[in-house]
Amino acid sequence: MSEQESLLSLAIELARRAGALQRERYETAFEIGTKSAPVDLVTEVDKACEAMIVAALEARRPDDAILAEEGGGLDRAGATWRWVIDPLDGTTNYAHGYPRFCVSIGVEREGERTLGAVYDPLMDELYHAARGEGAFRNGRPVRVSPETELGRSLLATGFAYDRRESEVDNLDHFGAFLKRARALRRDGSAALDLCYVASGRLDGYWELKLQPWDVAAGALILEEAGGRFSDFGGGAGARSGREVVASNGRIHDAMLAVLRGER
Ligand code: IPD
Ligand code: CA
Ligand code: CA
Repeated sequence: MSEQESLLSLAIELARRAGALQRERYETAFEIGTKSAPVDLVTEVDKACEAMIVAALEARRPDDAILAEEGGGLDRAGATWRWVIDPLDGTTNYAHGYPRFCVSIGVEREGERTLGAVYDPLMDELYHAARGEGAFRNGRPVRVSPETELGRSLLATGFAYDRRESEVDNLDHFGAFLKRARALRRDGSAALDLCYVASGRLDGYWELKLQPWDVAAGALILEEAGGRFSDFGGGAGARSGREVVASNGRIHDAMLAVLRGER
């Protein structure tokens, strides 16, 4: 087995283990706290999933760098491999017992998105991709939708945690797409939104002010499924998560035009 294959199987194993923890604790009494804003939640389960993943990586991949949302990462300068982890994407849903959340694990090699695993434990859906090898759900290849018209497209988005204070709140774009697309969804898990575009359940998705761990795995899964991932200018700046447009490729330019304010 190549090093890349063994890293992929480790990413999948850890995604499944964290997902099992989420499933076990779902709709039980767990502690809920807040982070950057009163609407930015973190639960005991987010922290437990991250601790489990980070401990496993420290034991099995001691030379790799780790960026993890709840702060458990290790910044190893000069490391070839970096793990970018969202231990529970969709925390608000999880806290409310709304069944849409996942664990997202991306792996970069020398700064390049290389591997990704996203696991939805309630649907028992595991998405994975390795650069150049396609994207899969539960082992079966997935492809983006063939839709070419924005007017027939199902799109998703999300709203950032600073929305009570910031005027950059995505409501302008939401209003514009509401008039142009067939329908919009706000399902509360950026990583799953990207996997849904990858597998053709959605035709497109956009969001502002995400973080690298929200997109590290999903962006690769989308690209490997034939989709396009960019910033609002159509460029490569989406990796930071600051501006993200994800689509089947066919409606991408039309989405960029709406985001530029063309009506
Ligand atoms: C959030 C979810 C949500 C998105 C937020 C993210 P979290 O991640 O992905 O869909 O709209 O911007 O921060 O906090 O649940 O890991
Ligand atoms: Ca997230
Ligand atoms: Ca999270």
